[in-house]
Amino acid sequence: MVDVILGLQWGDEGKGKIVDYFAKDYDVVARFQGGPNAGHTLYVEDKKVVLHQIPSGVFQKNKLNLIGNGVVLDPVTLKRECDTVAGFGVDLKKNLFIAERTHLILPTHRALDKAAELSKGNQKIGSTLKGIAPAYMDKTGRNGLRVGDLLDKNFTTAYIKLRLKHQKLLDNYSFAEDITAWEEEFFEALEFLKQLNIVNGEYFINEQLRAGKRVLAEGAQGSMLDIDFGTFPFVTSSNTVTAGVCSGLGVAPQKIRDVIGVTKAYCTRVGSGPFPTELENEIGEELRKIGNEFGATTGRPRRCGWIDLVALQFACMINGVTKIVMTKADVLDAFKELEVCTHYKINGKESREIPFRIDRMKVEALYKSFPGWNTSTSGAKTFSELPDTMKSYVDFINQYLGVKVNYISNGPGRDQIIVV
Ligand code: GDP
Ligand code: IMO
Ligand code: MG
Repeated sequence: MVDVILGLQWGDEGKGKIVDYFAKDYDVVARFQGGPNAGHTLYVEDKKVVLHQIPSGVFQKNKLNLIGNGVVLDPVTLKRECDTVAGFGVDLKKNLFIAERTHLILPTHRALDKAAELSKGNQKIGSTLKGIAPAYMDKTGRNGLRVGDLLDKNFTTAYIKLRLKHQKLLDNYSFAEDITAWEEEFFEALEFLKQLNIVNGEYFINEQLRAGKRVLAEGAQGSMLDIDFGTFPFVTSSNTVTAGVCSGLGVAPQKIRDVIGVTKAYCTRVGSGPFPTELENEIGEELRKIGNEFGATTGRPRRCGWIDLVALQFACMINGVTKIVMTKADVLDAFKELEVCTHYKINGKESREIPFRIDRMKVEALYKSFPGWNTSTSGAKTFSELPDTMKSYVDFINQYLGVKVNYISNGPGRDQIIVV
């Protein structure tokens, strides 16, 4: 069977930490979409590590980690990550596998990402500029190069052909940056990549499942950044929702058991686009400061606001969430009063639905207020130790969503998680 851990908001919910925590109980951890736009933070031996493409199970002993076909892979970032991980004594030869159908991010994809964003001016998406959209465009446009192609003797010819195509597009954008250095790094990293375990991902994972092994699928980004169901066009370019697991790994839907949705106790977003509960005031700044809300990939300050139950309920519906993990509950320790968004008001009407083209609407978030707990919770080990005010906050969320918060994370550390 396959269980899934994915983000229910706009990314950065704390998936890395949670996957690392859950990975103990699984045999295989697999990334099914996204690429180096992801930044998943976890702590190993009290040292902070940010993973971008390698699954967050890599630090647990004797687990297999798969980069699935749904991912777009940047070999340069991968090489760097592998070096970091190997520095902890992890043997990647034994526990990292890469699906041959995984599409490659080329240096020109990164250049195209940059050029496209620049051309959008103040309408820019706020992309991480890692080449994600151009790489997925080449996948759906049936032009892309895949990891398995590396082993083909005609790879360089195919690369040059695609590069030429990209160059024409770059010329159209009048993009003139020299990418020679990126290309050198890229080809060096390809040699490294070729030495890793390149496998047929779909047979790999299905053989594991047939042998009764337990698979944990690790999502990147968040449901509200999904290419179909997110706040389009301010989204990423892959299916971040549960459906992406089937196409991104080659597993059948009936193999999926639990869908574990991760949400912060409040909400953040990095990059442009609608964010109805955003707080552009001192409360937002306080959340950013206490929560240390700066992008793990780009270092950009994250926009902060209250938890949005309208968006969360939508995410639970699309994903079929069976369990919820609420992270960063400790960040709310210092607040006297908390707000929870229960409705949107659009054109004078109250609604509990995400509208089409939310990006073009004036959406007012309507809130229910809760008293804060105003006490430190980061040392708590059991649910019974938590303040009643936090329990009421969680209980309201359970009732509203009809899905239970089963775990509360109360600090970034590996052991700071409470089973409800
Ligand atoms: P991801 O992309 O979903 O894996 O999340 P990120 O790693 O980008 O961002 C989450 C940040 O919150 C990281 O810096 C984590 O170390 C941190 N974090 C995770 N869980 C908790 C928690 O319960 N409390 C606090 N204070 N920090 C947390
Ligand atoms: P993790 O896995 C938060 C955002 C970008 C931008 C939009 C499109 O760490 O949660 P892209 O680079 O995909 O073209 O950017 O999506 N974004 C993320 N925001 N967490 C992420 O990943 C993100 N990956 C992309 O900021 O708004
Ligand atoms: Mg992140």
